[in-house]
Amino acid sequence: MQRLIPTLRSDQVDLELLMLIRTVLAGCKEISFRVSQGALGGVLGSTLDENIQGEQQKKLDVIANQLLKSMLLNDTNVRAIASEEEDSIVAAHEDGKYLVAFDPLDGSSNIDINGQIGTIFTILPAIKELSADDPKQFEQSGRNQLAAGYVLYGPSTMLVLTTGSKTRCFTLDRTHGGFLLTNDEVSVPLQTQEFSINMANSRFWFEPTKFYINDLLQGESGIRKKRFNMRWNAAMVGDIHRVLTRGGIFLYPEDKRDPAKPAKLRLLYEAMPMAMLVENAGGKASTGLQDILDITPDGLHQRVPVIMGSSDEVERCCYYYTD
Ligand code: F6P
Repeated sequence: MQRLIPTLRSDQVDLELLMLIRTVLAGCKEISFRVSQGALGGVLGSTLDENIQGEQQKKLDVIANQLLKSMLLNDTNVRAIASEEEDSIVAAHEDGKYLVAFDPLDGSSNIDINGQIGTIFTILPAIKELSADDPKQFEQSGRNQLAAGYVLYGPSTMLVLTTGSKTRCFTLDRTHGGFLLTNDEVSVPLQTQEFSINMANSRFWFEPTKFYINDLLQGESGIRKKRFNMRWNAAMVGDIHRVLTRGGIFLYPEDKRDPAKPAKLRLLYEAMPMAMLVENAGGKASTGLQDILDITPDGLHQRVPVIMGSSDEVERCCYYYTD
């Protein structure tokens, strides 16, 4: 099985970008080890602090953020970083060619139940006209991403990565500590009979979401004339991994729970990298009204509605929002 670096070399990925991906993964391998230690490593439970989003931080959120942050700030290819757990960006090296944004630990509510969690990251080109501590550097369309990926800490630790063309899967081989290529070209089936949404929010949904999900729930006797199954991991990495593996549609739409935060998922370090992975695997990623990759973030922690997965199903779902 092929190793990560020779695989990326064969794609003509810039050497500096390749080195930077290696730095991100060095951090993720350390996180993977800490996650696997669980209670033995003292990483379970919460801290007393909240992040910028007003969410209580888990110990592992803080540990994962510190690990990635310190490794990335030491990499001279990095100009600045942005993290879900940091209020603002952190400048690194004036001459760095790249910006890195990440969610150090997605699906935090799964930490203490030994469920799926992961790290999501995106790499963007640095903008030399702006200073290294200017957050506006990160205001780039999703189409500018040079690389996007996630590391899923599940029964096995997997890296799903795209550097522009294909979306590939690698599995961490714990015997030698490297990621080995286990799927050279992920391809999301066009159609599906599986959807993923937090049904507990249904009373807060807007009409397009209500109508769409209701049509799925009618099964064979409804307009869709087929039975749909539902899965919800409560960790976007787990849900998107399933979608990339066997197809499906994943939704986190806007709702009326908190008018100040109609959408939940963050654009820069959650929706945007996942959208690139899904599109490069032949799927679609939309807000319902526009492709996620066409949006330019207007703030580090901006939230967006997310609908992604099997292309025919996402298109069909989007009609409910545009019609
Ligand atoms: O980032 C937030 C996140 O944990 C996602 O990974 C996940 O899809 C979602 O929130 C879970 O939300 P809920 O609490 O509604 O299940």
